[in-house]
Amino acid sequence: MKLDEFLRLNAPEDLAALTSSIATASLTVWENIPRKSGVLEAVNPSGEVQKAIDVFSNDEFAEAILSTGAAGEVASEEMSDAMKGKGKIGVAMDPLDGSSNVETNNPLGSIFGFYNKPLPCSGRSLVGAVYVTYGNMITLTLTYGKGVHRFAAVKDGPTLGFELTGIDLKLPEKPEVYGVGGAKKDWTPRVRRFVDSLEERGMRIRYCGTFVGDYNQVLARGGIFSYPETTVKPRGKLRVLFETAPMAFINEQAGGYASSGGGSILDVEPDSLSATSPVYIGSAGLVRELESVFSGTG
Ligand code: AHG
Ligand code: MN
Ligand code: MN
Repeated sequence: MKLDEFLRLNAPEDLAALTSSIATASLTVWENIPRKSGVLEAVNPSGEVQKAIDVFSNDEFAEAILSTGAAGEVASEEMSDAMKGKGKIGVAMDPLDGSSNVETNNPLGSIFGFYNKPLPCSGRSLVGAVYVTYGNMITLTLTYGKGVHRFAAVKDGPTLGFELTGIDLKLPEKPEVYGVGGAKKDWTPRVRRFVDSLEERGMRIRYCGTFVGDYNQVLARGGIFSYPETTVKPRGKLRVLFETAPMAFINEQAGGYASSGGGSILDVEPDSLSATSPVYIGSAGLVRELESVFSGTG
């Protein structure tokens, strides 16, 4: 089944329009990665040096999203203020996730959260989320609160189009892989203790430096991804609105659980558009075990 047919049958009209525009724009972003891998003389609101592809993807997606008329605002990791639109949905995006990986041709991604409240707001106001992976395949994984579904880009005549490849995806029972970001020497003692326990259980390390790429593996293999609290960044590195809340919404729909260390990521109220929080996301049992270890009861 083609994406637009699936959307017509399963998505609210405004979310369908937003998703379809994102899907088309993601193919343009992918085509431009080789040409736009240079570094710019600019930094984003989080103080991170911007790559040409960060800005290109931001502009491409913002224009596509606003052209639907379904978005009331578009906020982005790459912009200090939200752009205003005529619709009702608050779209928050990480237009290119893992951009430090562009030169190494590691997996890259894009993340979108669809909120029904003014931004910033907690993940409890999400009505949909989408992530794109740019890797061996270009895939689009989405939820509107009724299960997680996946599409892959395939040749469709002279162009590429998205076709359904997975329905109602769920994390497997047995957790197999883990990936933890930041420098090990900066992890807090309780993070290090928990990660050591994963190794003692024989879990396999899988870390590619892109949240979307690392989470995508956890969804397929079971386990946990984390960008944890560190002594250098006690509130972690990943942004609630653009990265961790949308992925937590998808993960929960796939039967998992995502924590900030002391409770659900979806309950974190970001005090700014680029507010960060530690993230521990994946198999519910493992993440709940981490919470009990952190609270001293485990
Ligand atoms: P972005 O490129 O959107 O800033 O995201 C990069 C993030 C995330 O994708 C990844 O998990 C993390 O940065 C990796 O950070 P380290 O390089 O510090 O491990
Ligand atoms: Mn990112
Ligand atoms: Mn980014």
